[in-house]
Amino acid sequence: MNLRRGSKVWVEDRNLAWVAAEVDDCVGKQAQVITTSDKKVSVLAKKLLLRYADEDDHGGVDDMTKLTYLNEPEVLYNLERRYALNEIYTYTGNILIALNPFAKLPHLYNIHMMEQYKGAPFGELSPHVFAVADASYRAMVNEGKSQSVLVSGESGAGKTETTKLIMQYLTYVGGRTARDERTVEQQILESNPLLEAFGNARTIRNDNSSRFGKFVEFHFNGTGRISGAAIRTYLLERSRVVQITNPERNYHCFYQLCASGQDAEKYKLGHPSHFHYLNQSKIYELDGVSSAEDYLKTRRAMKTVGISSEDQEAIFRILAAILHLGNIEFSPGKEHDSSIIKDQKSSFHLQMTAELFKCDVNQLLSTLCTRTIQTREGNIVKALDCNAAVASRDALAKTIYSRLFDWLVDKINNSVGHDQNSHLQIGVLDIYGFECFDNNSFEQFCINFANEKLQQHFNEHVFKMEQEEYSREEINWSYIDFVDNQDVLDLIEKRPIGIVALLDEACMFPRSTHRTFSAKLFQHFSSHRRLEKPKFSETDFTVSHYAGKVTYRTETFLDKNRDYVVVEHCNLMLSSKCCLVAGLFSSISEESSRSSYKFSSVASRFKQQLQALMETLNSTQPHYVRCVKPNSLNRSKKFEKLSILQQLRCGGVLEAVRISLAGYPTRRSYAEFIDRYGLLAPKIMDGSYDEKVIAEMILQKLKLDNYQLGITKVFLRAGQIGILDSQRAEVLDDAAKCIQRRHRTFIIWRDFKSTRIAASVLQAYCRGSLARNIYEVKRKTEAAIVMQKYVRGWLRRCAYLMLPTAAITLQSNIRGFAIYDNFLCIRRQEAAILIQARWRMCKYRLAFRNRQASIIVIQCLWRKKLAKRVLNRLKQEANEAGALRLAKNKLEKQLDDVTLRLQLEKRLRASNEDAKSVEISKLRKKLESLILELDAAKLATINEINKNAVLQNRLELSSKEKYALEREIISISELKKENAHLKGSRDALERKNVSLELALTKTQKESIDAIEKLQEVEQKNSELQENVKRFYGFSLWNCVFIGLNNL
Ligand SMILES: Nc1ncnc2c1ncn2[C@@H]1O[C@H](COP(=O)(O)OP(=O)(O)OP(=O)(O)O)[C@@H](O)[C@H]1O
Ligand SMILES: [Mg+2]
Repeated sequence: MNLRRGSKVWVEDRNLAWVAAEVDDCVGKQAQVITTSDKKVSVLAKKLLLRYADEDDHGGVDDMTKLTYLNEPEVLYNLERRYALNEIYTYTGNILIALNPFAKLPHLYNIHMMEQYKGAPFGELSPHVFAVADASYRAMVNEGKSQSVLVSGESGAGKTETTKLIMQYLTYVGGRTARDERTVEQQILESNPLLEAFGNARTIRNDNSSRFGKFVEFHFNGTGRISGAAIRTYLLERSRVVQITNPERNYHCFYQLCASGQDAEKYKLGHPSHFHYLNQSKIYELDGVSSAEDYLKTRRAMKTVGISSEDQEAIFRILAAILHLGNIEFSPGKEHDSSIIKDQKSSFHLQMTAELFKCDVNQLLSTLCTRTIQTREGNIVKALDCNAAVASRDALAKTIYSRLFDWLVDKINNSVGHDQNSHLQIGVLDIYGFECFDNNSFEQFCINFANEKLQQHFNEHVFKMEQEEYSREEINWSYIDFVDNQDVLDLIEKRPIGIVALLDEACMFPRSTHRTFSAKLFQHFSSHRRLEKPKFSETDFTVSHYAGKVTYRTETFLDKNRDYVVVEHCNLMLSSKCCLVAGLFSSISEESSRSSYKFSSVASRFKQQLQALMETLNSTQPHYVRCVKPNSLNRSKKFEKLSILQQLRCGGVLEAVRISLAGYPTRRSYAEFIDRYGLLAPKIMDGSYDEKVIAEMILQKLKLDNYQLGITKVFLRAGQIGILDSQRAEVLDDAAKCIQRRHRTFIIWRDFKSTRIAASVLQAYCRGSLARNIYEVKRKTEAAIVMQKYVRGWLRRCAYLMLPTAAITLQSNIRGFAIYDNFLCIRRQEAAILIQARWRMCKYRLAFRNRQASIIVIQCLWRKKLAKRVLNRLKQEANEAGALRLAKNKLEKQLDDVTLRLQLEKRLRASNEDAKSVEISKLRKKLESLILELDAAKLATINEINKNAVLQNRLELSSKEKYALEREIISISELKKENAHLKGSRDALERKNVSLELALTKTQKESIDAIEKLQEVEQKNSELQENVKRFYGFSLWNCVFIGLNNL
């Protein structure tokens, strides 16, 4: 292998089978690789396998042969990628690999899909089981040759499901549009649930594991329509009827019957846990499965395949009887090595078994507990111990069940009908795949034997296909070596000495044991390269099968190989009143034997069956479907590489690959080859040669040999494609470097240009953006100014609208104030007038009173004068005392009156003086307050004038206010005038007051003068009184004197 640094390779891994890696260094035989998980591994270069890195990009190829490197890891990786995309089918040439999706994919299997694949050339549509079925059908119709589809794979890989899909497709394309429910197709399809009920059981690997092999043959008439069918079954697992391990189950039909309700009651059945054959494992139910519903399905299927209701009843009766039979227990009898029914419960079950088998209960008991040995002397009855009785019971159960199963298959075959005239058949084989467990027993031996047979058939076929391709392409193929497994088959089946023959021989000798069998085996095949003796066991043997070594344990080989029918069992069943039960054993009734046992070798019978099958298969054109179980957990999307790789090996897929590799694994059409490798010889490509010539020249140029040039394809030996690819990689590397160089220059130049353009575009954008921003700012400023203008205008307007209102309010207030002042003035004036009036009235009254008093005084004086004259006259006249006294009293009274009036006048004058001074002070205060108010008004007016002036400057219309204010000032000046007038009137009043005071003082002077005159009068009076005293006494004159003092 041509490895160099950077080569993509696969490196083996213990856990992941193969991991992708890249060569880091390659020195001699040793290579350093770096795995995808960045792990450095040192391996032998020859252990590495080439990896095609380009395939990482897509979801895998639908045909493995399209893989550039056809090796194990590439096959595995391709499957993994496809499985991740739910592409469960992949071709390897004509072989279909089907990965179990473990999920429902209804879109893959509907009528529409079947219609799509109907008649489509194989390989045109994506891989599908319908494509294989269609290919087989088309080949049969077109070539008139029988076909077979071999479905294999390990347990749970999906063989039965695939087989059902193939059957479904074949009945779809080859069926007739029948109205009858029981058409052949319908019956074939309905045979599946029926056989599954009786032949399938839960195992640790699969809930619906087929415990038998099945080959379904579809018979077609000349027009390609289904005319009949036949089912062949192989090797039913009989031991399961009587023995199961947890968590497995017995055959489904037992559980279905237990869940059947009325029928179960009829047969005195109950829950499965009550029956020994079912309760050895504690699993009674399956996930998502209803036993009661399945029971009805089984019944329906029985009806469809043509089983009468009596037979149906008999079938379920037999099943019930087997369950009751399993519950019969034995205890040691009185005699040595004898056994009897253990208890009442067992008796009941014995009774029920006999009843259900419709046979005699005593005969059943003796059949279970005794054996009749025929001797020359006669029959000897031998009692069986408990273990032997149990073995006899279980043997009876197994025999009846396996015969019932065979009867069912026969019934289906008879019902569906075998078309004897048909020469066209398609057989579908659903058979167990290669098995290798820790403990491998007889079953695994038989299964692996069958798989060896099928593998041989497969190898031959694949080899044949290869050969066909080579001869089609007219190439020399003589040196393709073909690995044959005939030696293993010889080891197993060759007569007279082979494993099966030796086993049969051992089984026929009663004294033989597994030890003697093993010894014989190794004695005969001591040097056989396919047989080995394990180190730690004397009796086990290891066979090197095509899929690997398997060690078989021989302990149970002999027992399991002995398929015998105890004559007593046979007789008992034949004595049954039930036709079906008796019919199950009728075929062997005639056979008689010296022994109580009739031996028949299971292995030999199976070998014959296989032989017949192989003959059938050899007469047909095979198609292969390899089912693969992607994981042991039965979970979708989980891909366990190691297990899958093992299955691919066992399924022969890798063998097919290997066969392919042994020949010319790589084949390319000339066009493809030149397209891919033409660049290795560009000069040749320039010439106008034939494609084949160009291909040859390219190969010669690279000094390759052993290749073959077919008619349409180039055939290359294993590894040659690697050389071509590595050369191509080198050329591509150089080209890539050159392209990279140019490309980088181009990219840098382009980047520079684009950067420059981008820069100028950016600048333009920036400038544009800046200009836009400036414009935006300007626009906003303008807008702001306009807005301000409008706002200011609005504010001015508002203020302007407010000013007149304010002025009017002011005016109204001032006017109100002025009017109020006016009003106050008027009130004051009126009050003043009133005061004046009162004052004047008072003054005039005072003056009047003064005058009156003066007049009175004058009058008094006058009267006094007159009185004096009178007095004088009287004095003169009255020299008489009485007349004088009277005159004097009169005068005194008058004097008193005058004195009183004078005093009153004085008091009035004093009070008038006080009132006048109070009034004057009040008027002064009022005058002062008026002056102050006037000043305040002046100030306010000045302010207003100022404001008005300001306002007038702003608004010319404030002139009115000014005018009003001027008017106010005029009114104030009027007020001032009025004030002055008032001052004048006050002065006049004061002057009047002064004149009145003067008058008063004058009056006082006059009064003083009058008083002086009075005093003078008094003096004169006192003189007179003295004179009177002198006349009338001193006291009278004294009184007159006091009265005058008071005045
Ligand atoms: N094509 C499929 N689509 C969906 N599910 C599938 C498909 N094939 C198989 N399965 C699932 O896998 C389970 C096991 O499949 P199947 O019974 O066909 O296995 P098998 O190979 O016949 O096993 P055995 O050898 O034990 O009989 C089925 O019950 C089903 O759930
Ligand atoms: Mg199956």
